[in-house]
Amino acid sequence: MRSHYCGQLNESLIDQEVTLCGWVHRRRDHGGVIFLDLRDRDGIAQVVVDPDTPDAFATADRARNEFVLRIRGRVRSRPEGTQNPNMPTGMIEVLAKQVEVLNTAATPPFQLDEYNKVGEEVRLKYRYIDLRRPDMIEKLRLRSRISHSVRAYLESQGFLDIETPILTRATPEGARDYLVPSRTHEGHFFALPQSPQLFKQLLMVSGFDRYYQIAKCFRDEDLRADRQPEFTQIDLEASFVDENDIMLITERMIRQLFSDVLKVELPDFPRMPYAEAMRRYGSDKPDLRIPLELIDVDDLMKGVDFKVFSGPANADDGRVAALKVTGGATLSRKEIDEYTKFVGIYGAKGLAWIKVNERAKGLEGLQSPIVKFMEGIVESLLDRVGAQDGDIIFFGADKINVVNEAIGALRVKLGENLNLYTQEWAPLWVVDFPMFEADDNGRLSALHHPFTAPSCSGDELKANPAKALSRAYDMVLNGTELGGGSIRIHDQVMQRKVFEVLGIGEEEAEEKFGFLLDALQYGAPPHGGLAFGLDRLVMLMTGARTIREVIAFPKTQSAACLMTDAPGEVTQDQLKDLHIRLRHKQKAAPDNE
Ligand code: AMO
Ligand code: AMP
Repeated sequence: MRSHYCGQLNESLIDQEVTLCGWVHRRRDHGGVIFLDLRDRDGIAQVVVDPDTPDAFATADRARNEFVLRIRGRVRSRPEGTQNPNMPTGMIEVLAKQVEVLNTAATPPFQLDEYNKVGEEVRLKYRYIDLRRPDMIEKLRLRSRISHSVRAYLESQGFLDIETPILTRATPEGARDYLVPSRTHEGHFFALPQSPQLFKQLLMVSGFDRYYQIAKCFRDEDLRADRQPEFTQIDLEASFVDENDIMLITERMIRQLFSDVLKVELPDFPRMPYAEAMRRYGSDKPDLRIPLELIDVDDLMKGVDFKVFSGPANADDGRVAALKVTGGATLSRKEIDEYTKFVGIYGAKGLAWIKVNERAKGLEGLQSPIVKFMEGIVESLLDRVGAQDGDIIFFGADKINVVNEAIGALRVKLGENLNLYTQEWAPLWVVDFPMFEADDNGRLSALHHPFTAPSCSGDELKANPAKALSRAYDMVLNGTELGGGSIRIHDQVMQRKVFEVLGIGEEEAEEKFGFLLDALQYGAPPHGGLAFGLDRLVMLMTGARTIREVIAFPKTQSAACLMTDAPGEVTQDQLKDLHIRLRHKQKAAPDNE
């Protein structure tokens, strides 16, 4: 129907006849001449309709915003003074000969360039209109180029694209499952995969050697700006590899992707042990664009006459950390109060600080609510953090994880607010994760997933599980965990040991993972892999603020689709087929009981 996309028109087409199809972005009536901005996914072209072509003019006259038109006309230069160098098609316009209405449109719920004036709910309810905005089209176009680049790279490296089931059994990745009741097996449920983890391992047992998939994953978890209940992974697995192989393959993939799509050459990917990341940044996904670091001062605080500090400094599970901000002495009382409130979100009970006004004056030159307790150690403290005139030092004192979370988050917040970034892209690998983490009751769970290989022997693992490290690695970019993976357990005995440490009994292990334990007996090769969050990757590469901006039809924070109104109710007949009776329905109709 068309000869060109609107956005493709330029001066090289002057005097040529073109046929365009698109939507009326704007219509202006200029004393007898009608201007139509016609929009399609490639851009906007200005169409001029004058009364010399009466049929075209009459049609253009009744066209309204978002009408779908087909226009035949001649490309010409815009008259001097009306050119728009800011627009790709700004030097030309199309003089229409024929205007055809392919479809009318009701007045849209919002004008495309006024989307900011409506709430996100309206945009999500009418997502098909929201997606007409050039900004959204650009993001989804980039998403398509990203998956294309990734596929091309993985195919070139011998990875085979293999699909794995969506209706399956639970795959534990730490979230709740989405369940699908079975009609044919009463009382039984499928689980939607939290990841293709087990299937990709089984493909390695089959000998496929290198697998990848751009896979949909489903996790019923609390949503945040960078999480969706249904999201996409770039999932891969390879046999006869160690962690170095997987890290090199995927690092090259990400490098090539950034070079292909953004023309960015990423810097080196340093490798940092988990313990170091927690100590220096209070986070296992440190944003290395920010030059601030947490500095341990426990040894100095052990003897101070301030319980808030000496308590954690002397406790095994406590930590006192300092965060020095160069030039931060200019922060106002109000700003400090806001940061104190901010760390409170993470459980911190306060935020002590010292402003270094004039170091040469000793205690006199400092301003702080706690300096009276610091006599005797203040010089060592200032030396430790390298304080100079004009700096501020913040302190967190509490249980280790509270300090890490609170001061780690403060570090990121200060970096953002004070624009301390030293570089645009800061990738790294975090390695040497612990195998397990303990909850408040001391119950262990897998930090990655229970199929991750430990770096120690099975006996060492059993003797001291809390100290065991794993062969897992995470790729982090600008403070976001882009992907994670590990070398897997390929030995059945070791897999049973890990289940045992996790408190998964023999029977439960057989019931849930019998097929995996079986497969490990039939010649499972050493193998490992990784999965990237595609949505997060696109989010970072497009600079989007939320993950919803890079998904065509996302869910809300409460895991609903406002457009289709999913999840929805189903009929009694459907429930009956599925052998399901709803509890609240029973209450409403006691006769049914
Ligand atoms: P993991 O659980 O770390 O590992 O997930 C891998 C990556 O997927 C992304 N991701 C998400 N993105 C959006 N919304 C979510 N709810 C969400 N959850 C996770 C993250 C994360 O880094 N099977 C293992 C991988 C492996 O071991 O190979 C796994 O799924 O970017
Ligand atoms: P207080 O003696 O309670 O008035 O506290 C003195 C200073 O220490 C205030 O600036 C508090 O914000 C700060 N503070 C209190 N508890 C903590 C804590 N757990 N970690 C860091 N600073 C704290």
